[in-house]
Amino acid sequence: MAFSDMASLLKAAKQGGYAVGAFDFIDLKTLEGTIEAAEEENSPLILAVPERLLGIIDMKALAWAAMSYIDGSKIPIALHLDHGKNFDNIILAIKYGFSSVMYDGSSLPLEENIRNTREIVKIARAAGVSVEGELGYVGRNINAETLDSNYFTKSEEAMRYVDETGVDALAVSYGSVHGMYIGKPHLDFERLRAIREAVDVPLVLHGGSGLSDDDFITSIKNGICKVNIFTEISVRGMDRLRNELKKDQELALVLDGLKNETKDAVKRYIELFGSRDKA
Ligand code: 13P
Repeated sequence: MAFSDMASLLKAAKQGGYAVGAFDFIDLKTLEGTIEAAEEENSPLILAVPERLLGIIDMKALAWAAMSYIDGSKIPIALHLDHGKNFDNIILAIKYGFSSVMYDGSSLPLEENIRNTREIVKIARAAGVSVEGELGYVGRNINAETLDSNYFTKSEEAMRYVDETGVDALAVSYGSVHGMYIGKPHLDFERLRAIREAVDVPLVLHGGSGLSDDDFITSIKNGICKVNIFTEISVRGMDRLRNELKKDQELALVLDGLKNETKDAVKRYIELFGSRDKA
């Protein structure tokens, strides 16, 4: 049984100086491509379901599908709810057997974020589920060149947040952005180092798609143990589907293209994050 909790995967990554990729999946093809990539690389894996798409995708069906692949796999795999903002969705994820959840209270005032996160941690702990929290704000589709550093994570607040909530992992903001990058990102590694000094938990980088290889390598050297990726899978997948549709072939083959494109993207990241052969 390869089903794993996220906390132990990230603990091993922290000790080993690598990061585990958390790849969002939205259907069977992105799921299969991601698992096949991790298996071929013999890497631990975090499969993530994005809460923001739950009006379109079905959390329960995806969880069941993921569980059946995880059951037959030899690598350790965590099933994670990405950016859970809604209390009911987080409880549902725990009910459906996810091994970790993210509570994203990053747009709330600090006190409220701490209060809500603490409540989620209490419930998740009782169910043996890991919790990722977020402090500081990682925006979406905004110019990375002109980000307001007031939204970046402050190390003193991170210390307090981790201490008072008991989260297993902390998503931090130091210059990355979700979605396609507009403008060149300038990651604030000084800040990341200060946060790493201030807290003991593994740190998480959101907005991974489009960062440079050096950005990943320096981030991982300075405490990042989990990197989230979705936009690249989505954009490459759509390009591939457009190309496959130009050929005169069966739908199953068109969809197989989506699986293979996902697999290629995920493999490249696994190698870059250093988690190859760490299963
Ligand atoms: P990207 O949009 O850069 O792929 O980031 C995904 C992410 O952080 C999901 O939580």
